[in-house]
Amino acid sequence: MTELKVLTICGSLRQGSYNAAPVRALPALSPCGLTFSAAPSFKGFPYYDHDVQEAGGFPAPVKALADAIRAADGIIITSPEYNWTIPGALKNAIDWVSRMPDQPFLGKPVAIQSCSKGPLGGSRMQYHMRMALTSLNAFLFGAPEIFIGFAQTRFDQKTLELTDEATRSLVAKQLEGFAKFILRMKA
Ligand code: FNR
Repeated sequence: MTELKVLTICGSLRQGSYNAAPVRALPALSPCGLTFSAAPSFKGFPYYDHDVQEAGGFPAPVKALADAIRAADGIIITSPEYNWTIPGALKNAIDWVSRMPDQPFLGKPVAIQSCSKGPLGGSRMQYHMRMALTSLNAFLFGAPEIFIGFAQTRFDQKTLELTDEATRSLVAKQLEGFAKFILRMKA
């Protein structure tokens, strides 16, 4: 199977993030052929302001994220939901890279995952993310969707290892489907 490079973007900045935990589990759950690397951090991005862009161009960390997205065969975004939508820092990062001349999400296969302590597992963030990335002409992977609700029960509370077998199996299915989706989109 062709090797496919997948870039992972975690929407939570905090240490001990539940959303960072399934990202760490991806290599073990993946069909052969996918390799994973973490996106450069967007933690230090300034707030998007067109005047800042006009005055100084795109900040180096924004360029680094955009380059990493362009170089990947596919993207997996794993993010919490804040107030029923995309966390501001992640949305700000997407807004920055979306203004680049060689817009990195154009034609890029993207799969989404989310974890939340609540029952819906961050689903509302996912549907807003689908809308935002569709505006950038990314190719959004469909099903299976990964909503990890009641996150505190799905991970080992000390190691944050993803221990819930049903979730592990669903993530493996998503990765299998996503690998085929990437190949179809590249063809
Ligand atoms: C939350 N949380 C949350 N959960 C949810 O299911 N729906 C929501 O709308 C929100 N809103 C929200 C807003 C803000 C500002 C915070 C800080 C939190 C709870 C959230 O799911 C929980 O804190 C997760 O643990 C955050 O993900 P990480 O940081 O553990 O990856």
